[in-house]
Amino acid sequence: MSVLIKNGRVVTADSDAIADIFIEGETISAIGKNLNVKADKEIDAKGMLVFPGGIDPHVHLEMPFMGTFSSDTYETGTRAALYGGTTTVIDFVLQTQGHSLKEALTDWQSRATGNAVGDYSFHMAVTDFNNDTKAEIKQMVEDEGITSFKTFMAYKGALMVDDRQMVGLMQEVKKQGGMVTAHATNGDMIDFLVAKHRSEGKMAPLYHYLSQPEVTEAEASNRFAQMAQYTGCPAYIVHLTCEGALNAVRDAGKRNYRVLAETCIQYLLLDASLYEKDFEGAKWVMSPPLRQKKDQTSLWGGINQGTLQVVATDHCPFMWEQKLMGKDDFSKIPNGHPAIENRIELLYSEGVAKGKISLNKFVEVASTNAAKIFGMFPRKGTIMVGSDADIVIFDPKAKHQLSAKTHHMNVDYSGYEGWEVEGKVKTVLLRGKTVIDNGECKVGKGNGQFIKRNKVSNII
Ligand code: URP
Ligand code: ZN
Ligand code: ZN
Repeated sequence: MSVLIKNGRVVTADSDAIADIFIEGETISAIGKNLNVKADKEIDAKGMLVFPGGIDPHVHLEMPFMGTFSSDTYETGTRAALYGGTTTVIDFVLQTQGHSLKEALTDWQSRATGNAVGDYSFHMAVTDFNNDTKAEIKQMVEDEGITSFKTFMAYKGALMVDDRQMVGLMQEVKKQGGMVTAHATNGDMIDFLVAKHRSEGKMAPLYHYLSQPEVTEAEASNRFAQMAQYTGCPAYIVHLTCEGALNAVRDAGKRNYRVLAETCIQYLLLDASLYEKDFEGAKWVMSPPLRQKKDQTSLWGGINQGTLQVVATDHCPFMWEQKLMGKDDFSKIPNGHPAIENRIELLYSEGVAKGKISLNKFVEVASTNAAKIFGMFPRKGTIMVGSDADIVIFDPKAKHQLSAKTHHMNVDYSGYEGWEVEGKVKTVLLRGKTVIDNGECKVGKGNGQFIKRNKVSNII
């Protein structure tokens, strides 16, 4: 099957031109002006933006967490991602303390295989680093194509690793050609503040926010960066939210050590005033919490300076009934919010259309950099001869409203209910196949493939 996408404005991280794209099978075989080729199918993209399929390297699908499971399955989550122009996601396999990495991987594969609608890959979250785990790192990198290893410096008593484990893991991961990533907040300080607030009877969602002040993230980000520099391990901070943490990443750069970092769409657009809405604030209970308006300004600056390379979602949806688990105690509210479907349209509308970032920067942080950092480039993350034909055809003028009534995520509220958005995903191709067209999904579960990734580096 061949497809010709004609007359679109083709935008990559470093180019922008009116061109045609010729696709044969799953890959792009020619790009140029007025291509003289015969195709089985033609798509007229005049007036449209044409850019590489989005990559969201931070999602949690059907994740066992805080006594429940995140509500999007591999089927519903990856389908919602496609509706929103994201063709590849990277989820986190969570090792259970006392068990092997391989056991956790088998568990995640049982939920993903045959169910994903869009392409996906895995990070491995190491929650118990010991001699047995150490011996599995090479196997993950060489055999499974899992080259990034996530750590939690918080969630004490559940997922958190201490610094001894962190340094040991970094040494081994560096040796095997991988990268260590971190949820960088100070778990002990947070644990203390949560207990303090609860003992004072302060149980509302607002106290989730007040239990994780900026200093908890700034301190842990700095500590993580220092350990990365000491070990020489490529390092990446997930869901960075605030000025203090951004400064820690910048300081590493001043010492000529590069720590890569992502923020998430919610930290760019939403702020902590949402926690003042009594229990409704539970919709935005996530870790780290939303911050201040001044932090939003810093994060946009970090993107434009290249200190932040990726805008992800940390998509971790819970039904309202699940959020109610914490109605009398903020520490029992499952942490996370839905955004997998909204990321690209929000980033375009609030970023590009409002003049905060350029179109090339948009492509870079929504797709290209994640592919480069996590070992998928140039197969994914760009429009280039030989790349997978993962392509979004986007109407920059179409205005619409976000709502739980119309979204495709398996969650009964939206973090962005009623938001007016400029620009809409019209058609999406995944490996040459049209998967979304004018609001309809054309493929079913099993369409998504697991993407094995190459070794990684922090030089991008
Ligand atoms: O609140 C969040 N972020 N939930 C998902 C788990 C994590 O920390 O990424
Ligand atoms: Zn996290
Ligand atoms: Zn997460």
